[in-house]
Amino acid sequence: MDRRWWQGATLYQLYVRSWQDSDGDGYGDLRGIIGRLDYLEWLGVDGIWLSPTMPSPDHDWGYDVSDYLSVHPELGSLDDLDALVSSARERGMRVLLDLVPNHTSTWHPWFIESAASKQNGKRDYYVWADPAPDGGPPNNWLDFTGQPAWQWDAGTGQYYLHNFLTEQADLNWWNPAVHEEFRRILRFWFDRGIAGFRIDVAHGLYKDAQLRDNPPADAGGPLGGRFGLGAVYNENRPEVHGVYRDWRSIADGYDPRRLLLGETWVGNIARLASFYGQDDELQLAFNFPFVFAGFSAEDLGSVVAATLEALPAGGCPVWTASNHDVGRFATRWCGGDPAKVRLALLVLTTLPGTLVLYYGDEVGMTDVTVPAELTRDTLGGNSARPSRDRARTPMQWDDSPTGGFTAPGVVSWLPIGDVARCNVAAQRDDPASVLSFCRDLLRLRRERSGGSGRYERLPGPAGVWRYAAGDLEVAANFGDRPATLPGPALEVLVSTAGKRGQSESASLAPWEGVIAVRSR
Ligand code: GLC
Repeated sequence: MDRRWWQGATLYQLYVRSWQDSDGDGYGDLRGIIGRLDYLEWLGVDGIWLSPTMPSPDHDWGYDVSDYLSVHPELGSLDDLDALVSSARERGMRVLLDLVPNHTSTWHPWFIESAASKQNGKRDYYVWADPAPDGGPPNNWLDFTGQPAWQWDAGTGQYYLHNFLTEQADLNWWNPAVHEEFRRILRFWFDRGIAGFRIDVAHGLYKDAQLRDNPPADAGGPLGGRFGLGAVYNENRPEVHGVYRDWRSIADGYDPRRLLLGETWVGNIARLASFYGQDDELQLAFNFPFVFAGFSAEDLGSVVAATLEALPAGGCPVWTASNHDVGRFATRWCGGDPAKVRLALLVLTTLPGTLVLYYGDEVGMTDVTVPAELTRDTLGGNSARPSRDRARTPMQWDDSPTGGFTAPGVVSWLPIGDVARCNVAAQRDDPASVLSFCRDLLRLRRERSGGSGRYERLPGPAGVWRYAAGDLEVAANFGDRPATLPGPALEVLVSTAGKRGQSESASLAPWEGVIAVRSR
């Protein structure tokens, strides 16, 4: 049976270091998550995606893996992860891991061997190249910080490629041995009951075989670019699709089928859709045009329409608005305004497909200003890019000084936000809170629309996004003025403005959204 459990599901991205500390060291961990699973069950999520859990020297907080087949000792053990998977399963939830196939830590044994000599059997696991004739880097590629993407290795007289930090060496996907390693890694985790992977830098694995210079950025072009250069040759190569066809056949060989969810950082919907292949590559691909769309009916509505049109038959869209890189939608879209937060949640939970919430979205957590001296993000926290710590601060469980995240008196690894303004405990008991609203939405999503796939944009006044979702109708007013809806009054099931149960409405207050059924 073709069971696609993720279709209509709600996933919850959990930044492990910041969710719940169980042992009082100021860092969140796997045991902490196990202790809080009841909360996720109560909230109504179907699965969790854990930010990197594998051993790492943490130059990029786990996105620099030094062992793909184990658990970072600061986060727990393999036994803890097994226990988390089975406790989650008992509550009807699945667990996805973060997989980083584009690069490894330079502390990974593969790289240590690779750098040992040009003759080493692992040399070709990474992208090594001779200097340019002037002795400088092999080409003009820049890394994520805007510096040359090549690091000189005096020992062997060549450069190695790093699209991110110097400590994150890019793997060479032209080498079949690298494919074999990752097949083994996939199976290792699938065999342990992991439901799937979020795939880091999914568009980037292959580099141009000739290492050609990147051309100048094509503003608004499909590939995006960095620091004035188009990302044509250092990522976005067509060969990557073969990797996902291969992985898909592995994932489909399991029962239930395993899920491949790509971090497809592309600026164009057609390119995004290409990662679904003919429904034989990734089952889900993150939609960054949606993340970066303006918070308006027109911008969001047009990305949604374009996405649904571009996906292949059977392709399931995925909607997310916050993550550990881009920050929180409550700040980016909503400027911290709770009315807008509710509107965003209402829309996110009613669109067809898979929903990925980021921890804290459900209580309207906003970005937190982290003072420079407490910054942990070295990749983001440089002159070229703002620190990403703003959206990685501890979960705000209650209004105690540590926010319930760690033991009393312990200093958390990143400072905690304004717990008096926003915390789970206060909102859980308040039927009018953002959390209660979010939970109601998730329940309705399960019971009614179920992310069923039916979506149809309906006519509405300027600034209002109206659509049919399953057998429901959604009307969302992205404006400061009241709006009158066409047609007869709606029977409102849920309103961001607090109307509860069935009430009639033919108009929307500023920034009000409703989920309704048509009156007969
Ligand atoms: C992805 C991750 C990001 C990380 C980068 C390098 O974009 O989401 O956090 O820094 O890849 O691995």
